Amino acid sequence: MRSCAKFQTSHSHFAQLRTKVGSFAQPFFVLLHKISGIMAEKKKLYIETYGCQMNFSDSEIVASVLSESHETTTDIKEADLIFLNTCSIRDNAEDRIRRRLVQIGFMKRRRKHLKVGVLGCMAERLKEKLLQEVAAVDLVVGPDAYRNLPQLLKEVGTGQQAIDVILSEEETYADIAPVRYDTNGVSAFISIMRGCENFCSYCVVPYTRGKERSRDPKTIVAEAENLFQNGYHEVTLLGQNVNSYHWNENEETVDFPKLLEKVALVNPLLRVRFATSHPKDLSDDLLIVISKYDNLCKSIHLPIQSGSNNMLSKMNRKYTREWYLERVAAIKKYLPQASFSTDIIAGFCAETEEDHQETMSLMELVKYDFAYMYKYSERPNTAAEKRFPDDVPEETKARRLQEIIDLQSKHCLSQNKKDVGKTFEVLVEGFSKRSKEHLYGRTSQNKVVVFPKGEVKIGEYVTLFVEGYTRGTLIGNQI
Ligand code: 5AD
Ligand code: SF4
Repeated sequence: MRSCAKFQTSHSHFAQLRTKVGSFAQPFFVLLHKISGIMAEKKKLYIETYGCQMNFSDSEIVASVLSESHETTTDIKEADLIFLNTCSIRDNAEDRIRRRLVQIGFMKRRRKHLKVGVLGCMAERLKEKLLQEVAAVDLVVGPDAYRNLPQLLKEVGTGQQAIDVILSEEETYADIAPVRYDTNGVSAFISIMRGCENFCSYCVVPYTRGKERSRDPKTIVAEAENLFQNGYHEVTLLGQNVNSYHWNENEETVDFPKLLEKVALVNPLLRVRFATSHPKDLSDDLLIVISKYDNLCKSIHLPIQSGSNNMLSKMNRKYTREWYLERVAAIKKYLPQASFSTDIIAGFCAETEEDHQETMSLMELVKYDFAYMYKYSERPNTAAEKRFPDDVPEETKARRLQEIIDLQSKHCLSQNKKDVGKTFEVLVEGFSKRSKEHLYGRTSQNKVVVFPKGEVKIGEYVTLFVEGYTRGTLIGNQI
C-alpha cells in the first residue's frame, strides 16, 4: 500500500495534468512532414506509467525515441500501440499491472492491429516469462533498451514477439530530448543518473535498473536551460540516490552539490528540486549549497525506512538511527525553513513491537511534513527474501502501518498549522480540483497552497499569506 499522508507526489499530480504534445525535436519533423507531403501519417502511442518519478521521466524518453513514427495520445481507444511502463517495487504494484494487462487483452480481441508492450522494471524482472504467461503482450523492453524500440517494433510488425532486457553499464539517454507529452508547462523532470548499487536488502531496484551511472553535467545543464527557455519554472533532478552523483572530466570532478549549483545558476527564476537522497551520503556541502541559492527548494526527502537500528542493519541501509537524527539536526541548522519528508516500511522481517515503537518515536522527534508509508512486501531474489523469513503476520503489518499513518496525519496537521500567518512565494501550477475560481501552486517547501485566482496566471510566482490549512493543503490569499 502506498499511502501519502499529506499531499500528492509530483508524479501523481503530473499524471492528471493537461496534455500538450510537443518536443524539442518534433517541430523540425512536423515541418519536414508538411514540406514533403509524402511521409506516412504517424501512429498513435498511448503510454501508461506506474511507480516512481524516474518511470515518468523514462516514458518521456520512450515518446522521444519513437517520435518519428508515433505521436502520443491520452485516449487509449485510439491507440495503435499501448505501453505500460511498469513498477516492481511491491507485489501489489505488479498485481495491478497484471490486471490491467487482462483488460487490455480484451481490447486487443476487438482491435486486431493493436500492439502491446511492457516496459520498465517488471519487464526487466520477469523477462520472457511475460511473453509466455500474458497473452496480451507483444513486446518486453527493459529500462536500458529504449533506443532499440524502433527496431523491436519492426519485429512486432511482422507478427513476432520481441524482447530486449539487456542492462547497460553506460546508457544514460543523455543526448535524447524527452518529449514532455503530459505536462503543465511549469515543472519537468530531468534524469541525472540511472541505476542503484545500494542493495537495500528489501529492494528490487538494483536488479531491475542495474549499475549506477551518472549523466554528463553539460547535458543536464543544457536540458535545464532548454526547459527554462520553453517557459518551465521548475525542474526536479532525478536519481535513485542523487547524493552519489559523480562525473569526472579532465581535471574537474562534479559531485552532486556542484551539479546542483550549476543548475541553480541557469536562472534564479528556475526552481530546482531533487529526489531521492540516501541519508548515508547527505553531506554538509550539499546543505550549504542549498542554503546559498533561493531557487534551490527548501524541502528534503530523506527516507528513514525504520527507526530501529536492528531493522536498519538488516535492511542494509548503512546508517543508524543516531546518524540519521544527526543529519536531520544538520539540515535544521543549515536550512531552518526546510520541510522534511520520508519513506517508512512497516513490518519488515522479524520486526518486534519495540522496533515499531522506535519508528514511531523517531517520527515524533523529526515531525515529518509528509511521508510515504508501506507494508513490507517480499520481493523475489532480493537479499531479504534469501536471508530472512517474511514472518510478521499480515494483520500485525496492517495494524503497525495504520498506527504510522495515524501519527503522520497528526503531524501533517500540526506542521501545516505552523504555516498559518506566514507568507510564501508560490509557483502556480494549475486550477484547484474543486473550483475554477481557485488556483494551486507549491511553496519552496513543496507544500500545496490553494488561493482565489484574481489576475494570477499559471506559471507565475505569487506571494501568498496563509490563512488556513487542512491535512494536505494550505489555504492562502494574495497580500
Ligand atoms: N516493500 C515495501 N516497501 C518497499 N520500498 C522499496 N522496496 C520495498 C518493499 N520490498 C519502499 C521504500 C523506498 C520506496 C521507494 O519504496 O520505502 O524508499
Ligand atoms: Fe532501493 Fe535502497 Fe537503491 Fe533506494 S537506495 S532504490 S531503497 S536499493
